[in-house]
Amino acid sequence: MRIVDLTIEDIAFGGKGVARENGRVIFIPFTIEGEKISAEIVREKKQFAEAELVDLRESSPHRVQSECPYFGRCGGCSYQHIDYEHQLAIKSRQVRVVLRRIGKLKDLPMRPIVPSPTPYGYRNRITVHVQDGVVGFFRRDSHRLIDIERCPIAMEKVNRALDELRAQNVRDGHYTLRAERGPRVFSQANDVVANALRESIVKMIPTDQELLIDAYCGAGFFAKALLDKFQRVIGIDWDRFAIELATNNASAKETYIAGDIEVELRGALRPTSGASAPDKTTVIVDPPASGLTANIRKVLVDLAPATLIYVSCNPPTLARDLAELQQTFAIASITPLDMFPQTAEIEVAVHLQAS
Ligand SMILES: C[S@@+](CC[C@H](N)C(=O)[O-])C[C@H]1O[C@@H](n2cnc3c(N)ncnc32)[C@H](O)[C@@H]1O
Repeated sequence: MRIVDLTIEDIAFGGKGVARENGRVIFIPFTIEGEKISAEIVREKKQFAEAELVDLRESSPHRVQSECPYFGRCGGCSYQHIDYEHQLAIKSRQVRVVLRRIGKLKDLPMRPIVPSPTPYGYRNRITVHVQDGVVGFFRRDSHRLIDIERCPIAMEKVNRALDELRAQNVRDGHYTLRAERGPRVFSQANDVVANALRESIVKMIPTDQELLIDAYCGAGFFAKALLDKFQRVIGIDWDRFAIELATNNASAKETYIAGDIEVELRGALRPTSGASAPDKTTVIVDPPASGLTANIRKVLVDLAPATLIYVSCNPPTLARDLAELQQTFAIASITPLDMFPQTAEIEVAVHLQAS
């Protein structure tokens, strides 16, 4: 394929550098804006092309040596070649750009991004795959595995668990390795940043609230930290094991419902169900990457709780959802959090108020 000389203009959401050739966009992974490179075009589409870095002719002052021998081949990390301060700047900018472009949102009340105090060694769990004696992660852009002896973004204890797994002759399959033994339910992967997220949510709750609905509550990570702010707390999640865990140590004011948000949210919010008035109600939504469904967006817009806190792991679906939620809510703040340094993932917490 062709080799072209390019100047990187930006880094797109997802982590690839963006350049242009005769107006057409070319995406090149492992590059940094401002860099002059030679790249080999590996895929040509009508609207855009994809290329691989061949030669770095002028490198960015933000370029650093990666810490992982698998970086570039492993599908997990995208930013180990960029210094941490600049990773944070890139992620903040990407959130702003995506919210403007997809959500058509203006006047964004952006807060500074919350960094991870440890840019490596932060993950308290990893999932590795085993196939035909290979223990590791998927290769970049592939369903083939790369054998991994150590993952530098995982905590030491997790890497010890990886050593132990590798020493056994385990069957093909997926294995989640954790720093602490725990139940098989969703848990936040970066403890320090997750706690910072929870602390910032505590500060968003007004003093006069009565009812909290923690939608997509898992085992109640947010709900349990907010008990003294509410008279009643309802958590909803369709993972029965997570709901069982949340219920095990629940106080009288907590109710956890094992069910689909799609079905349960309207009932929990509707005033006729004995719930508090909307102006005394706070809802937290922490959906998977697909974001909220049209139905959930409508329930929130119709029943308008005073405070809505949206925790997102996917800025594009967040942007789509905020565009609609704006019918009823004003955005009080947008806080990006770097839950997953070295990767292209971005977490965002948005504080909305019924207007
Ligand atoms: C990103 S996790 C958040 C968990 C929790 N907030 C926490 O911090 O531990 C998303 C959760 O949503 C749940 N979930 C996804 N779709 C759902 C749906 N339609 N109805 C109910 N729960 C759902 C999953 O079981 C998972 O526990």
